[in-house]
Amino acid sequence: MDKKEMLYEGKAKKIFRTEEQDQVLLYYKDDATAFNGEKKGRISNKGLLNNAISNIFFRLLAENGIPTHFIAELSEKEVLVRKLDIIMVEVVMRNIVAGSLAKRLGLEEGTNLAKPVLEFYYKSDELGDPMINEYHIYAQGLATESELSAIKEMAFQINQIMLDYLEDKGIILVDFKLEFGRGSDGKVCLADEISPDTCRFWDSRSGKKLDKDRFRRDLGDVAGAYQEILQRLQGSEHSAICGQD
Ligand code: TMP
Ligand code: ASP
Repeated sequence: MDKKEMLYEGKAKKIFRTEEQDQVLLYYKDDATAFNGEKKGRISNKGLLNNAISNIFFRLLAENGIPTHFIAELSEKEVLVRKLDIIMVEVVMRNIVAGSLAKRLGLEEGTNLAKPVLEFYYKSDELGDPMINEYHIYAQGLATESELSAIKEMAFQINQIMLDYLEDKGIILVDFKLEFGRGSDGKVCLADEISPDTCRFWDSRSGKKLDKDRFRRDLGDVAGAYQEILQRLQGSEHSAICGQD
C-alpha cells in the first residue's frame, strides 16, 4: 500500500492519502497531549502500543458485528482504514465515576454507576470539546436522528463487548470515548482509535490506573502501563493472575 501525502495531522495521529480513494493510512505518533493540548509530552513507544491495542479492539468489535473503519495493520505504527466523513461528536460511555464526571457532579472517583452513562461532546479543539445533548446535535446538523440512534445502539453494544472481554483480562473498563463516521455508502461506522489514550483502564485487583491518566496526573510509568495493557490483551496475563505487578 503506497503512502501518499499527509492529509491531516492531529494530536496523536497523522492521516495519509493512499492510492485507493476510499482508504487512508493512520500513523500513530508518540506525542501525548492533555487538557485540550495545554499539557504536552512524549510517551516512548506509545505509537506502536496504541496501534497494536486499538487494532485488537477493532478486530474484536468487528467479530461481534460492529461496523468499523479497520482494514489492515500495515506496520508497527500504521493502520489502513476506510476513509470516512467524521461525525463531529465524541461519544463518551461511563461505567464508573472518574474524570470530568466526578468533578461535574461532585461524586467520588470509583463510585459505580447504576446504569452506564452516555455523553456527547462537540468535537472542536477551538471550543475545548464542550458537552452537548441530542438537541444541539440536531440543531447544528451534526448528525441525523437515525444516525444518532445507530451511534447510541453501537456505543452500548461496544461497552458490553469490551466489558466482558476485559473482565477476563483483569481490567476494569471505567469509561471510554468513541468517534464515528459515514462511509461512502452513507452508513455509520466506528472510527478513530480505542486505546489507553481514549479509555480509562484500572487493574481489577489493585485498582492501579493503566491509561493516560498516568500522564494527565503525573503518576509515572506511563509507557509501562500501556505495555501492561497490550500484554494482557495478547494473553500474557501474568501480573493479573499471579499477582506480580
Ligand atoms: P473525561 O472524564 O475527561 O470526560 O474523559 C472521559 C473518557 O474520554 C476517558 O476515558 C478519556 C476519554 N477522553 C478522550 O479520549 N479524549 C478527550 O479529549 C477527553 C477529554 C477524554
Ligand atoms: N484529547 C485531550 C487533548 O487534546 C487529551 C485528553 O485528556 O485525553 O489534550
